[in-house]
Amino acid sequence: MIDHARPALVLLNPGPANTSERVRGALTRGDLCHRESEFGDLLGVIRAGLVETLHLADSHEAVVISGSGTAAVEMSLLSAVRPGRSVLVLDNGVYGARIRRMCELHGLPVHVVEADWRQPIDPARVADALAAHPDVDAVAAVMHETSSGLVNPVREIGGIVAATDAVLVVDAISATGHEEPDLPEIRADFVCGTANKGLHGLPGASFSLVSRDKGLARLRDVPARGVYLDMSGHLAAQRVGDVLHTPAIPAYYALDEAIREFREQGGYPARVADYRARAAVLRAGLDRLGLELPIAPPHRSNSVTTARLPEGVSYQRLHDALKERGFVVYAAQGALSSEFFRVSNMGHLSLETLERFVSELADVLSATHTRQVRTGPSSPGERS
Ligand SMILES: Cc1ncc(COP(=O)(O)O)c(C=O)c1O
Repeated sequence: MIDHARPALVLLNPGPANTSERVRGALTRGDLCHRESEFGDLLGVIRAGLVETLHLADSHEAVVISGSGTAAVEMSLLSAVRPGRSVLVLDNGVYGARIRRMCELHGLPVHVVEADWRQPIDPARVADALAAHPDVDAVAAVMHETSSGLVNPVREIGGIVAATDAVLVVDAISATGHEEPDLPEIRADFVCGTANKGLHGLPGASFSLVSRDKGLARLRDVPARGVYLDMSGHLAAQRVGDVLHTPAIPAYYALDEAIREFREQGGYPARVADYRARAAVLRAGLDRLGLELPIAPPHRSNSVTTARLPEGVSYQRLHDALKERGFVVYAAQGALSSEFFRVSNMGHLSLETLERFVSELADVLSATHTRQVRTGPSSPGERS
């Protein structure tokens, strides 16, 4: 149960992230009918704000969808592949695997370039796969694999795909606003993002930014594959300030405020610098504590760090002890969960808060160590 009397938790999970009072305050802007011009105006400001702040105003158009990031990815994918053609999925983590599963469930033929979760996708293998499979209509890549904290070489992959007729769909759900490279350098045709991670908005609104050349042409050629995820339909409605379905209006208010805040704080360059500084504080602290970081430095994102759990410490025990002290960390996904945990530095956070986290983590680990020295490891099941 949520204890409203307790100070707010510091969310070091990779979204939904902590938000500013200003963004949360936007929730109280008031009731609104989405068929009124005020909503159309709000939507127009958000659509323009997204492409402008993410540096794609000259080349892309925004489609906003009410739903989590998965909705934006699935909508983009279903709108990017012509009937009878296939998708090349680049899979080196949980979100790459999820895209593959989406394609399979929707009956889209798939080719896959796979890599170990610690390794980036090799662009040369993408070029080889495109040469070997001329039926590929879309390449789907995850920019920042949130499951590991690894950034894939999307700029190089984008250059390869741009030279073909295929479109590039980039799941940038945990990358928009704070990861590198800057989005124009990727030349993606569909860039999927969400409100509640690096943009510091609230859950409920996500988006796909579609390129005006290849992307829009593809939208014209692909028939709708569903009602809710019909991207062409959403775009046509949104261009005239309308929506197909009831939007998550409070999340749109918050996104509007978050975009204004993002801009006023210095936009993309400032947020990248801020996130880099946060990640550096966090990683220096984890390093001092002797925790192994399995992703090699050149591939690490600015926002998520995976660390190995210390010998004899289970994720659950670590999580619970840190939560008692006001911090929420995150489990590693799937098979990695018994050996690793994740810490995100997304959201409305200060460097001092991250320094405090490192010191609380040090206390928790030293208390665990003292207990182990006195009594031995608590149970064999807690060792990985
Ligand atoms: C890279 C990536 N893709 C997709 C998703 C799915 O987003 P959501 O949980 O908002 O549906 C996430 C969520 O963390 C993500 O990190």
